[in-house]
Amino acid sequence: MSESSESEIYRPYPEAVAGSWAENWEEIEARAKADPYTYWEERASELVWSQRWDQVVDDSNKPFYKWFVGGKTNIVTNAVDRHVTGPHKNKLALIWESEDGKTVRTFSYFSLNREVEKMSNIIRAMGVNKGDRVTIYLPRIPEVFFAMLACAKLGAVHSVVFAGFSADALSSRIDDSESKLVITADGSWINGSVFPLKDIVDEAVRFSPTVENVIVVKRTGTEVTMDPTRDHWYHDLENLPISRGRCETVQLDAEDPLYILYTSGSTGKPKAILHTHGGYMVGTYTTLKYTFDIREDDRFWCTADAGWVTGHSYLVYGPLLNGATTFMYEGGPTFPHPDRWWRLIEHYGITTFYTAPTAIRSLMRFGDAWATRHDLSSLRLLGSVGEPINPAAWHWFYDVIGGGKAPLMDTWWQTETGMFQIAGVPAMPQKPGSGGRPVFGQEAEILDEAGNPVPDGQEGFLTLKNPWPAMARTIYGDDQRFVDTYWSTYPGRYTTGDAAKRDADGYFWVIGRTDDVIKVSGHRLGTAEVESAINSHPAVSESAAIGLPHEVKGNAIHAFVVLNQGHTGNRELTEEIRAHVSTHLSPIAKPDEITFTDSLPKTRSGKIMRRVLRARALGQDEGDLSTLED
Ligand code: PRX
Repeated sequence: MSESSESEIYRPYPEAVAGSWAENWEEIEARAKADPYTYWEERASELVWSQRWDQVVDDSNKPFYKWFVGGKTNIVTNAVDRHVTGPHKNKLALIWESEDGKTVRTFSYFSLNREVEKMSNIIRAMGVNKGDRVTIYLPRIPEVFFAMLACAKLGAVHSVVFAGFSADALSSRIDDSESKLVITADGSWINGSVFPLKDIVDEAVRFSPTVENVIVVKRTGTEVTMDPTRDHWYHDLENLPISRGRCETVQLDAEDPLYILYTSGSTGKPKAILHTHGGYMVGTYTTLKYTFDIREDDRFWCTADAGWVTGHSYLVYGPLLNGATTFMYEGGPTFPHPDRWWRLIEHYGITTFYTAPTAIRSLMRFGDAWATRHDLSSLRLLGSVGEPINPAAWHWFYDVIGGGKAPLMDTWWQTETGMFQIAGVPAMPQKPGSGGRPVFGQEAEILDEAGNPVPDGQEGFLTLKNPWPAMARTIYGDDQRFVDTYWSTYPGRYTTGDAAKRDADGYFWVIGRTDDVIKVSGHRLGTAEVESAINSHPAVSESAAIGLPHEVKGNAIHAFVVLNQGHTGNRELTEEIRAHVSTHLSPIAKPDEITFTDSLPKTRSGKIMRRVLRARALGQDEGDLSTLED
């Protein structure tokens, strides 16, 4: 991966901005900087509230900020209801294509509402009320939209778990959130094979006392076991009278919880990030509108799975809040051929395409011809998220896919931030590899260890200065961990966990995580989770996992494993441990390499020094070893 150049600048957009808000983007930016709260208040005023707020921000109990205090609404009021009663009633809200390409399902805002009402009626009949948690473990099918929106409509809190996580991972998330209901499918299609979702749910809920019901959507037709006291086919429920009739959208306090989403941290179990209705709604609506300059005739495709925050904010909520048409494809990018995505863009006339650098790198390898044989001229804007985009991938995406005319919006943000934090607008000149500047209303600063701002061009810790509406409100059930993780390193500042630098033009260049979080193919994994999965193998005594640079995945996991007495590290055991991680955590967490070792470098207090392992593996200077135990 070659070095990025701070002086390489692209200005592809001017002719497209004439007459639109984008012409005055610098003025909007300056006004938001001078008075962020008024900026956010104006954005909130563009949406429907059944009761207006009394106060934009209550910061009397930092870092537990409250937004739009006293306001009442529901994200569904704005994502669905207001379109059904307005000019978007018959506009397509969602287009979906199956992995085998044989089925296309489309939903206007009117018919999306019907589906959401039906699912809301059903889950309410199952005793789900405001504040109750519901775990959603579904593949990329329209029902994931219905389920999320149905929960939100009733004021229930959804917890979507990526349908590639193991039974162990699912079970711990169900238990932590104390979900009453699980919504799943019989299976999911992955490159022509079935992944047995229902079996995994069965195993996960076996010891979950809180789960009263499981709803199963039939997708693959796979044989599954149904427990008559707990499991229900969705197509049976749909035919019952309970599913019929209108279902009112419950009006909630702006600060009522919308969802929990588990994400990995440096230590311990995954963190249950909590987002709320009012602020999250305003934040995702606004950032999508500005960064992707949403237009009436857009077809917006975010390739992320609804199991990650990108899917929540910019596949489901953001596009619907903007009354846009969102597109979802069930399968993987190379099925059955490496041009599947390009074929879909051509066929559906996708205008805005938002994906991850790892996907771009993996598709680049198949050569330009797979893309250039398709007419991709509908593309107006491109987007990137999840990890830094290296110059080679940027140029390929921009030149070959975007035809050198579509601005490439690099968006930096996190599960915790809920919405973009560093991301330009299309009219802002672009530098490959930089997200540009903080979004309107936000300011970022790079600090050194002591908390002093570092000069431009120098690397340091990325922090955010202003509160923003879609900020996580807490870690569900663990306020103290929320304070300790994000707000204690630099009091009053949100610590991101990323290293970055700023250049002389005020553009931010994110380098990567500074903690024990590894981004593998854009997926966020904690070393602690990976190690705990490895350590649960009976032959293993202890282990350390690190991320090493990988051409396609960005980072690949390399594990150092100490075996129990009587076991020998060989190829067979390597494969066994890799498979073990796959089934006990997720296939995405499977180490690329395992090195058997007699001991791990530790501090005198017993902490594994992963940086020493990383330096050794990369042949770099091991740095200060004075705290090393041995
Ligand atoms: O390290 C940053 C990286 O992804 C982390 C957040 O991961 P997650 O919560 O899973 O959310 C991913 C999608 C929003 C960040 O701390 N990251 C995300 N976007 C970028 C990025 N790194 C560089 N450039 C980006 N555009």
